[in-house]
Amino acid sequence: MPDEIKQKEALIRVITLAQQWSGCNFLRYNPGTLERRVGRRMIDARCQNISEYLDFLERHPSEYHRLVAGLTIKVSCFFRDPPMFSILEKVVLPRLFAQAKDSGRRQIRVWSTACAGGEEAYSLAILFAEQTKLISQVSTSILATDLDPDALASAATGLYPDDSLREIAKMQRDRFFVSSPATDGEFWQIRPALRAMVDFVVFDLTSTTRTSPPSGIFAEYDLILCRNMLIYCQPSLKLEIIRRLHTCLRPGGYLVLGRSESLPEEYKNHFVHIDQRVKIYAKEE
Ligand SMILES: C[S@@+](CC[C@H](N)C(=O)[O-])C[C@H]1O[C@@H](n2cnc3c(N)ncnc32)[C@H](O)[C@@H]1O
Repeated sequence: MPDEIKQKEALIRVITLAQQWSGCNFLRYNPGTLERRVGRRMIDARCQNISEYLDFLERHPSEYHRLVAGLTIKVSCFFRDPPMFSILEKVVLPRLFAQAKDSGRRQIRVWSTACAGGEEAYSLAILFAEQTKLISQVSTSILATDLDPDALASAATGLYPDDSLREIAKMQRDRFFVSSPATDGEFWQIRPALRAMVDFVVFDLTSTTRTSPPSGIFAEYDLILCRNMLIYCQPSLKLEIIRRLHTCLRPGGYLVLGRSESLPEEYKNHFVHIDQRVKIYAKEE
């Protein structure tokens, strides 16, 4: 068998094993990204090619954990995509508070679906904490989920390097973070009141057994963010994930995607694109 085909088959076998180990449907992610990610694991494991890495994986079961963690990209920072957060703050949040008030609801429910180390969820917590100061009758509950338990464990400690706070004004930083002297370099820790606004739970967006995390109920969320995860999915998986998020959103609720992501054709009529500069969509009432 030509070597190229052998390597392709070995790659599919590696992805299949990662899928069986984690339950996540990696075979429906973009093959190019997966190949690059497996390539990094190969280098760390000092393997010359994918067939060698496959042998390594079969001989070292502890590698599964690193492989699955390595298949996804965790890059994030606070207020990543500032124009989007500005429109959330100035347009979306006031509407959500008004909707809650008009319908007599006392709580706004938010879901950050692929939250990595928690930066996105805490950025939302900051925006809501500032608005709640003004509108005290309505509370906010933020659920932050991710496939990767290690990323969530780190999110729960709420400790971040100075660089990931680069989009936060000094006043906001001092209000919501404390400088952490226990670490090398400059690190900041989320203050307990902000920490208490966010629940971190493992949830796989490709799950075929659950539409939403255990606490989720049909059409319950007011605001859902799914940013910079769909770019790694093949179109059919992306469509399924959007279908699930559409189901979980309350009519009139908002869906936010990443800058280089967009709604599949099939869902363009189910949402109103509220501002062409950013990927924020309102679910049709
Ligand atoms: C690049 S980060 C995005 C972080 C944040 N949303 C942002 O835009 O800054 C992508 C995240 O998607 C998560 N992810 C990948 N596949 C997932 C899945 N099937 N279910 C839930 N999270 C997933 C990864 O673990 C990673 O933390």
